[in-house]
Amino acid sequence: MNKLRVAIDGPASAGKSTVAKLVAKRFSYIYCDTGAMYRSTTLKAMRLGIDLHNESEIVNMLNNTKITFKPSTNGQLVFIDGNEVTNEIRQENVTNSVSTVAALTKVRSILVKQQKAIANCGGIVMDGRDIGTTVIPDAEVKIFLIASVSERAERRFKDNAEKGIHTPLEELKREIELRDYKDSHREVSPLTKAKDAIELDTTSLSINEVVDEISKIIKNN
Ligand code: C5P
Repeated sequence: MNKLRVAIDGPASAGKSTVAKLVAKRFSYIYCDTGAMYRSTTLKAMRLGIDLHNESEIVNMLNNTKITFKPSTNGQLVFIDGNEVTNEIRQENVTNSVSTVAALTKVRSILVKQQKAIANCGGIVMDGRDIGTTVIPDAEVKIFLIASVSERAERRFKDNAEKGIHTPLEELKREIELRDYKDSHREVSPLTKAKDAIELDTTSLSINEVVDEISKIIKNN
């Protein structure tokens, strides 16, 4: 079987990265979490005290920044300029600010260029918001994962509890809805389902069922 390019898009907390990692493992493909690139950019800008609406300062910063990944037993480690930030980029303050940075046109063009280069060799599962529409519009397999807001908030609630974070469920729902709204209404590459993507509603599916479903689609390609 040829090494395919698999694009997985969808709204916040639809289970994209969990599923994408497992699919990549099953086919011995590379996994690329593009959300981690927007999160790392946001974290570095916050650490430097840059106003998150200031496109030119963030672009200057990004031109002097290296975001890298290293595979690990639990998935993937993320580094900014050689320093590990895997957990820090998932903290609430970054999560609630990342859509502001991801809406900046020039930031997107720098990161999309890097993502296209990563995807070029094939044998890759890439997840994000604009993979099937902008980063790999000719991907052999395009999946659009969705789940109800309540289900996604509950998944986040459980993940948070394991990390000792206790944000109330209603607040998580509001945060998810707001992030979806911002990601779907920005001017550049808003979150939309590519015309040729296969939509999977994961609300009542287990992780393994979703991975099996995507694996079937890949094998039938
Ligand atoms: O997937 P994750 O939740 O980690 O993504 C964090 C944020 O990064 C999203 O809410 C979105 O604002 C941005 N993002 C994006 N395009 C992508 C991946 C992520 O705009 N391809």
